[in-house]
Amino acid sequence: MAARINYSIQNSLWLLNPLHSKATTHFRNRLKFRQNLFSLSKGAVFCSYATNTDKSGTEPADPFVLTTPLYYVNAPPHMGSAYTTIAADAIARFQRLLGKKVIFITGTDEHGEKIAAAAADGGSSPSEHCDVVSQAYKTLWKDLDIAYDKFIRTTEPKHEAIVKEFYSSVLANGDIYKADYEGLYCVNCEEYKDEKELLENQCCPIHLKPCVARKEDNYFFALSKYQKLLEDTLTENPDFVQPSFRLNEVQGWIKSGLRDFSISRASVDWGIPVPNDNKQTIYVWFDALLGYISALSEDRDQPSLRTAVSSGWPASLHLIGKDILRFHAVYWPAMLMSAGIGLPKKVFGHGFLTKDGMKMGKSLGNTLEPNELVHNFGSDAVRYFFLKEVEFGNDGDYSEDRFIKIVNAHLANTIGNLLNRTLGLLKKNCQSTLVVDSAVAAEGTAFKDTVEKLVETARGHYENLSLSSACEAVLDISNAGNSYMDEHVPWSRFKQGGAASEAAAKDLVIILEAMRIIAVALSPVTPNLCWRIYEQLGYSNEQFSNAAWSDTKWGGLKGGQVMAQPKPVFGRIELKTGTEDGGEPAAAKQVAKKKEKKAKAQAVAEA
Ligand code: MSP
Repeated sequence: MAARINYSIQNSLWLLNPLHSKATTHFRNRLKFRQNLFSLSKGAVFCSYATNTDKSGTEPADPFVLTTPLYYVNAPPHMGSAYTTIAADAIARFQRLLGKKVIFITGTDEHGEKIAAAAADGGSSPSEHCDVVSQAYKTLWKDLDIAYDKFIRTTEPKHEAIVKEFYSSVLANGDIYKADYEGLYCVNCEEYKDEKELLENQCCPIHLKPCVARKEDNYFFALSKYQKLLEDTLTENPDFVQPSFRLNEVQGWIKSGLRDFSISRASVDWGIPVPNDNKQTIYVWFDALLGYISALSEDRDQPSLRTAVSSGWPASLHLIGKDILRFHAVYWPAMLMSAGIGLPKKVFGHGFLTKDGMKMGKSLGNTLEPNELVHNFGSDAVRYFFLKEVEFGNDGDYSEDRFIKIVNAHLANTIGNLLNRTLGLLKKNCQSTLVVDSAVAAEGTAFKDTVEKLVETARGHYENLSLSSACEAVLDISNAGNSYMDEHVPWSRFKQGGAASEAAAKDLVIILEAMRIIAVALSPVTPNLCWRIYEQLGYSNEQFSNAAWSDTKWGGLKGGQVMAQPKPVFGRIELKTGTEDGGEPAAAKQVAKKKEKKAKAQAVAEA
């Protein structure tokens, strides 16, 4: 085959839509009409369908709709796929704490060639295979404490109906035509590749596997028509793509020229048939992206684009990995423009989790098993490590040694141990009862201001999706608490009796109030751990579930409140023996042992 993709659309252009001859004028008019739509109304960004209105005709607050990618079911979930979902869950929980109605959408992408091939390899039918893997995702989400609101499977009938309606609407707008296509295809990306982006032997740079030559008669989406509109949209809404360095990348792609892309496959049976041509199926991306809308459709409703869109669209945030940015920040907005549907408000492309510097993935076979991690270390540890230690937006490498060090240092020592020793002292000296309100206890100390500032910092970071920095700010509250304890030495002041003892009792209230605030502020990241902290402070599960971000204000704990019996809220992770796990972890074990000795010495001093 010639080295270049043989793009033969011009020769065999077969216009499907009788309206197409009018399309250019029509499109120009639409362009004019829609140019300012991003700045229209708060909810209906670029949206020609009705938005949410309640029965009284007033507009309720827009829900915060956030999505993860819909995961391919060619193989069970790995840590890379779990990463986006953990981040999305933390963001959803934070928004709920702010009092927002949240619709958190996740799901599975079940059509296409590689799914059919995976099913055949496993000796099952595609639909049986999809049921099993889709369920594995649901189980993992449960184990990781992912509180999603909607789980959409692209094989659901309501999704199929909405994809077909969407296709027909784009077709009616004159943006679909039929043409020959010849090119190099990466089955794992489910994408024709430009030869210049390929590595040696025509290997895909992401999957490192050779692309295959394909020639097909396909339907195409007229992406190139939307070049100018996309360019203007991004210029006017620079926050649409985040982090900002990814915006530059997207603008670069658009500037270098957008080519129409094929949206059907003649050779793939496992997919949604093209309306009016059941010899072809709809290309997986033209199918799966619609899952973000079909997920909004209530099962009791007759599925339709209009009702789905009016149930929460546009999405506030699409969270994705950087490898699928082009689909979300170029193809998807153009598809929505064509169908006259509002654009999502933001697309955030995070980095990759790597192992030995290579993207971790099903196709490369170097995955990290999330079930094993959760089973060994618990969901809080897994959630915390990846959100705290990987700067959201950048790549981050995993190693077991680092995982254990971080989780032990931050969750078991800095937070867990501070709570435990404070409750121990309170039990011994105050019958586990707070002597005064925390507001009174903090009078005249700078500590309360420190905590309030850190909470505000954490809130800002959560809002900007800087999840690692949000964790850092909350952890700093605990660091400040530990320093406060070291400076005020309440254990020795209790021994002095009188005023010193009274001051020590107040110090304990101060620290426990800080712990209460930590339990609210870190709950998006480590919900289980935070519940256990709340429980230790004498609250019920209902009180924890009803907690809001406003509860991070100083002053929640009241005098007379009885704390629970102290018990560790986060068990230290013990390393396997050196013979089992080799040199590096053994070194970590020594560090862990040293810290343990220090903690024991401290406990003796406090007794
Ligand atoms: N099915 C498409 C998405 C369709 S959305 C309408 C898909 N699926 S995927 O299962 O291959 O990938 C899903 C997400 O997992 C992507 O955002 C991808 O970036 C992310 N990850 C897969 N491997 C990853 C890492 N090693 N690290 C972090 N995330 C990565 O693409």
